[in-house]
Amino acid sequence: MSKDLDIEYVRNKFPVFRNPKTKDLAFFENAGGTYVPDSVINKLNKFMTETKVQPYGDFSSSIEAGDEMDNSINKIADLLNIEKDEFIIGPSTTMNMFLLSRAIKHWLNKGDEIIVTNQDHEANIGAWRKLADEDIIIKEWSLNKDSAELEIEELKSLINEKTKIICVCHTSNIVASINNLKEIVDLAHKHDIKVVGDGVAYMAHDLADLKEIDLDFYGFSLYKTFGPHLALLYGKKELLEETKNLNHEFLSKEIPLTLNPGGPNHEELACLSGLTDYYEDIYNHHFSNQKISLHEKGKAIFKLVYSHEEKLMEKLLSFLKSKNNVKLIGKSTHLRSERMPTVSFTVNNKSSLSIAQEAGKNGIGIRNGDFYAWRCLKGLGIDTNDGVIRISMVHYNSIEEVNKLISFLEINI
Ligand SMILES: Cc1ncc(COP(=O)(O)O)c(C=O)c1O
Repeated sequence: MSKDLDIEYVRNKFPVFRNPKTKDLAFFENAGGTYVPDSVINKLNKFMTETKVQPYGDFSSSIEAGDEMDNSINKIADLLNIEKDEFIIGPSTTMNMFLLSRAIKHWLNKGDEIIVTNQDHEANIGAWRKLADEDIIIKEWSLNKDSAELEIEELKSLINEKTKIICVCHTSNIVASINNLKEIVDLAHKHDIKVVGDGVAYMAHDLADLKEIDLDFYGFSLYKTFGPHLALLYGKKELLEETKNLNHEFLSKEIPLTLNPGGPNHEELACLSGLTDYYEDIYNHHFSNQKISLHEKGKAIFKLVYSHEEKLMEKLLSFLKSKNNVKLIGKSTHLRSERMPTVSFTVNNKSSLSIAQEAGKNGIGIRNGDFYAWRCLKGLGIDTNDGVIRISMVHYNSIEEVNKLISFLEINI
């Protein structure tokens, strides 16, 4: 029997929906950063009030601090079905990608090529483009101007024996369709090319199967997946072993800390197990089988999320498609197998900024801009200053909120 996501149960987990000051905002800027559940906040509070000391010492608060941090590492590894020494937790995906580009630079020789897209957020472009200063050739896999999609035939035409790395998003934070990373990785590996995936706009909506896709590197931002302001970068163990140590000289054997100078933020790392607790709570509320892994539990939850998000999208998209003055970017289908519940558009003869500002006055949280995917907007011929209106939903958004948004848009666009 198919189940529905218990939206009331879910929303009750988020203090923001109980607080009179914040509960009435219809929040649709989730791709910019999501709300955080009690379980994360409570762990953060506990760390700050009880164990805010240097961890891994021999006194009780220090031992507990280290244990809490290790617990998060173990839980996140289980959730993603990866090893605990196959990822770092850094401050942001932008920083993690930058560090990665420095740590694998020695794999490249003068004249070697890296392919970046113009559909991605700049985080998975800029760090790689900077290597052009060191005689690495950067090639652009450009989106189709009409469909806004990346086409595999175009990628094939760019690959040659000099190509060493392909950097591509799993989902664009503007276009929102799901790029077929498995197909891209299979193609790349046939040519001995490594793939760096950006999962930032994907992971609030599903758990990517990093091992099944056989990704070499994959990054996403935990603050956009219901956690604190941190980001995770995964790398295959055998590849991490070949990265350069960016950390102190005496830590050169401490892979993957070698990729993370300064190490993670302690209190935020400690509260990450609150995120896996949140997923487990949702699982336990909807399902009873305990004999499966945390990763499988996560996948089960995201199946419920999938149907809920699809319903929200169906409602919003059917409204937007009915408006002649709206220019939607990307696919016009609401099907979650095709796209994530993020919708970007422009409105004829109306500035995106004015719509976002008016929405704010009406208790609706949306934004305009290029969202740092400025090459994507330029590729689509859209003014990067005013940019697009972006509406991005996650599983805690309700149909009532979508109705409120539609009522606003009916009058204001
Ligand atoms: C698709 C995508 N990639 C990368 C980033 C950069 O993430 P961070 O803010 O963690 O550097 C963003 C941020 O909006 C994003 O949407």
